[in-house]
Amino acid sequence: MVKANLIFLNNKAMNEQGVLDMHKAIIDVEKTYMLNWKGDVINPGKCVLRWGKTIEDENVLGRINAMPGYVGGDYDMAGIKWIGSGPMNYKEGLPRASVTVVLNDPKTKLPVCIADGTAVSTIRTGASGGVAIKLLAKSNAKVMTICGAGAQAPTQLEAALIARPSIEKLFIYDIKKENAQKFADIVKEKYSKLEVFVVDNPEQATRESDIIDCVTLASEPFIKGEWLKKGALVMNMADYEVDNECVKKADKLVVDFWEGIKHRMISTVALMWRDGLVKDSDIHAELGEILCGEKSSRENDDEIIYFNAVGAGILDIAIVSRCFKSAKENGKGIIVPFWE
Ligand SMILES: NC(=O)c1ccc[n+]([C@@H]2O[C@H](COP(=O)([O-])OP(=O)(O)OC[C@H]3O[C@@H](n4cnc5c(N)ncnc54)[C@H](O)[C@@H]3O)[C@@H](O)[C@H]2O)c1
Repeated sequence: MVKANLIFLNNKAMNEQGVLDMHKAIIDVEKTYMLNWKGDVINPGKCVLRWGKTIEDENVLGRINAMPGYVGGDYDMAGIKWIGSGPMNYKEGLPRASVTVVLNDPKTKLPVCIADGTAVSTIRTGASGGVAIKLLAKSNAKVMTICGAGAQAPTQLEAALIARPSIEKLFIYDIKKENAQKFADIVKEKYSKLEVFVVDNPEQATRESDIIDCVTLASEPFIKGEWLKKGALVMNMADYEVDNECVKKADKLVVDFWEGIKHRMISTVALMWRDGLVKDSDIHAELGEILCGEKSSRENDDEIIYFNAVGAGILDIAIVSRCFKSAKENGKGIIVPFWE
């Protein structure tokens, strides 16, 4: 007799349950940031299974991150995101990142769902960028630069255009120009009203931009604070991408999860904290704090704001949980007898 089933949702089933819906993802991510701020989550942080000894090694040999968590509120779901990053996978035509999400019933702790979370990961990172832009970018932001034209770039742009439909000009910079060009071609096709430029160097683009969104694999900063204009929002979505001056010049430092950022210890603001150049009290707010109305968002068009996101499994768990509930209601997914 089967005592416990779980549902398996592959990428196609996840798509059918609305995983690619950016509007819904933004709501999930906002709700999760707020639940986190109110203490209605368990978010123990990332465990990194790292190959090699340095960041440079890791950027070649790869890593697998385990991100467990529990999300309260109407999600009421536990689980884990297990994300592999193989930087050399492209040589075999495979994606760099692959994600599996396991959901567990918070009462019995038994697994209830195993889902492909690859799209969730890019969608929720886009949604996080979108929430940051909604709260922190100039209200009529017109010019955006995206640095890093990989898997994250399309969802960063999609969410940015939801948060700021006023964006009319996009610069794309990538260390591999062919990646930038490929992304530019897709963008031109999809958003015909957007003016799109591929740049060889990020300086002029940064000087013109209201939003500079970095989603690269950089381990050496390539965006300089001296290039930031008044009112700029600089988004450090990955590792060591922007120089210390970007942080020093900012009127506000905003993050997604400060403890997670310090634990990961790889972004500009984290490294500055380690070196005593940034104190805990220098962090203006986490996004959840702003969403709960306890801290201010952007207050005028002149402020320069630095934003850093490390991400957390609870964001993925919230989105997968919505898709899992939808699959159950609609009788979708493959039912696997877990315990006979
Ligand atoms: N903050 C979060 O929540 C979150 C979530 C997911 C991914 N990430 C991070 O985002 C980054 C990008 O992820 P992805 O899946 O798009 O990776 P990807 O490998 O698909 O794309 C990365 C792109 O960055 C470019 N690049 C690498 N080094 C560069 C440099 N020095 N300057 C300019 N461009 C450079 C590459 O050529 C590539 O086109 C990764 O570091 C990943 O860890 C962050």
